[in-house]
Amino acid sequence: MVKLRLSPSILTADFARLGEEVRSVEPFVDWFHLDVMDGNYVDNISFGPDVVAAIARTVDVPLHVHLMIDEPGRYAGRFAAAGARRISFHPEVTPDPLGVIQLIEEAGAEPGIAVHPDRGLEVLDDYVSRLAGVIMMTVRPGFGGQAFIHEVVPKISEARDIIARHGASTEVEIDGGVNLATVDAAVAAGGEILVVGSGVFDGKDAPRAARAMREHLDAIAERLSA
Ligand code: DX5
Ligand code: ZN
Repeated sequence: MVKLRLSPSILTADFARLGEEVRSVEPFVDWFHLDVMDGNYVDNISFGPDVVAAIARTVDVPLHVHLMIDEPGRYAGRFAAAGARRISFHPEVTPDPLGVIQLIEEAGAEPGIAVHPDRGLEVLDDYVSRLAGVIMMTVRPGFGGQAFIHEVVPKISEARDIIARHGASTEVEIDGGVNLATVDAAVAAGGEILVVGSGVFDGKDAPRAARAMREHLDAIAERLSA
């Protein structure tokens, strides 16, 4: 039985009502995807461990922290202590990705890497057996609400091939511009965890949007399992 997982990104949620926002969609989701930006790796600053801890106290589903920061190893412990189940980083920021993977493991979280749309899959090939997840980015990191980059789709299939070749169980997560119009392409290429930011938190009716995406994913999964 195929299970497609929905992981809303809170980046475009109303931060003044963040608790209410995450609770309103929690019944429909499997994870929350928390985008941490430091103003260096990307040209934006979002939030840090205290906000992650506040969300961890508010919802029961697991939290995946997507670090878009220059020094992931320095902060891995703090995000794990804040309640992150999984922590992913961009390997190009460090000469020692394995060292960061180890720090995340030692902190008690599941390690993952995130693949920038302009980067290759070498690090995945090198460390896949150690990685709980790989985030395939379908926008350039930095901001919510951007358009899905369709050119990344073949790379998603390549990532799946690498994982299969190594006999690994690394989960493939698609991040950026995923909505009802683009999600089928993301799933067809091998995406199993779908990050949806502005497709859920668009300022209108977040629970309704989350429910619609949940039903859509369950319908695709049912077709794939038949
Ligand atoms: C981009 C982030 C994403 C993204 C999700 O830097 O990693 O998680 O903004 O939001 P949407 O779905 O609006 O692209
Ligand atoms: Zn993200």
